[in-house]
Amino acid sequence: MSDLEKATVKDALIKKIKTKEATIAVVGLGYVGLPFAVEKAKIGFKVVGIEENPLREKMINNGENYISDVDDVELKRLVEAGLLSAKGSFDPLDQFDVIVVCVPTPLTKNLVPDLQHVERVTENIAEHLRPGQLVSLESTTYPGTTEEVMLPILESSGLEVGKDFFLCHSPERVDPGNKRYTTKNTNKVVGGVGSNSLEVAKTFYEQTIENVVAVSSPNAAEMVKVFENTFRAVNIALVNELTLLCDRMNINVWEVLDAAFTKPFGIMPFYPGPGVGGHCIPIDPHYLEWKAREFNFTTRFIGLSGEVNRRMPEFVFEKVRRVLNEIGKAPSRSKMLLLGMAYKKDLSDCRDSPALVLAELLLDDGIELIYNDPYVESVNIKEKKFSSVEITGNLIQEVDLVLIATDHSMYDYNWIVSKANKVLDTRNATAAVIANREKIALL
Ligand SMILES: NC(=O)c1ccc[n+]([C@@H]2O[C@H](COP(=O)([O-])OP(=O)(O)OC[C@H]3O[C@@H](n4cnc5c(N)ncnc54)[C@H](O)[C@@H]3O)[C@@H](O)[C@H]2O)c1
Repeated sequence: MSDLEKATVKDALIKKIKTKEATIAVVGLGYVGLPFAVEKAKIGFKVVGIEENPLREKMINNGENYISDVDDVELKRLVEAGLLSAKGSFDPLDQFDVIVVCVPTPLTKNLVPDLQHVERVTENIAEHLRPGQLVSLESTTYPGTTEEVMLPILESSGLEVGKDFFLCHSPERVDPGNKRYTTKNTNKVVGGVGSNSLEVAKTFYEQTIENVVAVSSPNAAEMVKVFENTFRAVNIALVNELTLLCDRMNINVWEVLDAAFTKPFGIMPFYPGPGVGGHCIPIDPHYLEWKAREFNFTTRFIGLSGEVNRRMPEFVFEKVRRVLNEIGKAPSRSKMLLLGMAYKKDLSDCRDSPALVLAELLLDDGIELIYNDPYVESVNIKEKKFSSVEITGNLIQEVDLVLIATDHSMYDYNWIVSKANKVLDTRNATAAVIANREKIALL
């Protein structure tokens, strides 16, 4: 291919992107992929989701939504307008110009990165790769994944990066449930394999995102994302550790933190809780920890924060036993209502939720446990199915202890406290409750 032809490949793709003639494949229509696909379809791109879960594929093609950050009506409208659809796998006839990879990046039980989804998808893309395509990895991963894992697979097609096709990493920063910062107005970092990939990728992201921040390589972009989540994990661990100390010293940690965060500089609010959950904070830092070992480097903050955060459900469990003891109840003869099974308020996501770990510890101790979560119909704990119960005044009065594990906004905490015998609040959700405070034990 001559230099002119190479320039034409890049310029032609940029032109297609700018005129919205480019067709986009989004691989993995989950918490990240579906909102992303909707944002792109909204501005006129034709977007096809490649989703291996047949139920999700079917729902999208029926115009049905399953991700809370996506607007039901918007999704239906885009599907009906032919701008958004889903299919189970790539087809040899697909002619996508941009392929965005949003598949899960979990950990194995031994906290080792499990890149099987990214590898499998990259192999599928390589099979169909043609000149003039941009491939972007959005999944969170360790520095090196784009260039060391994806690039060799893609180049095994015989095509060359930066000339025939373009490759970048642009980490997703979606904060599920955040109404102020969405995919559109959150600054987006992008690092390309070489300057041509960066130019194409930046053009692509600038179509929907207000501020695209270019970094020098995919390695740097990958490091940005794992650092951001490590920053959160470490700071959450710090306030969790402070909570354990305050508990021993009989100091109200919530009062301390609220007062500390009145300082207008040099500090940032983080709050304790029963542990960390979701697909980011408990996982991503360990991707970096694992990679660091290749460089004979120990990331001590990551190890320590993981240890502190993972211990929190046990601390809450100890506190439950203490509170039951104070009201003269043996755990094996007590009944408890757990409020909030999701890992975060106002969401239905239960992945790695500390409430699940907590529920298991309580059941193991012989406590009769029921739960309510307006967003989580049922869960499996120790291979047994539990369904969310309806909360009534009678039910709250009947249990010995109400445990607030997740502080959903729709709960009426005044009413809950007024009816309850005792409440253990792990989120300070009852901060505004004035009456009956003697019934409340805080984390
Ligand atoms: N959830 C978050 O808040 C968040 C935020 C930022 C980044 N991330 C990162 O984004 C990535 C995706 O996370 P998520 O929360 O959207 O996951 P998810 O589980 O909600 O969605 C992933 C989707 O990919 C599909 N999938 C898996 N393998 C596939 C394959 N080979 N082909 C087609 N579809 C496939 C799954 O069926 C699922 O629908 C992860 O790396 C995660 O760390 C997540």
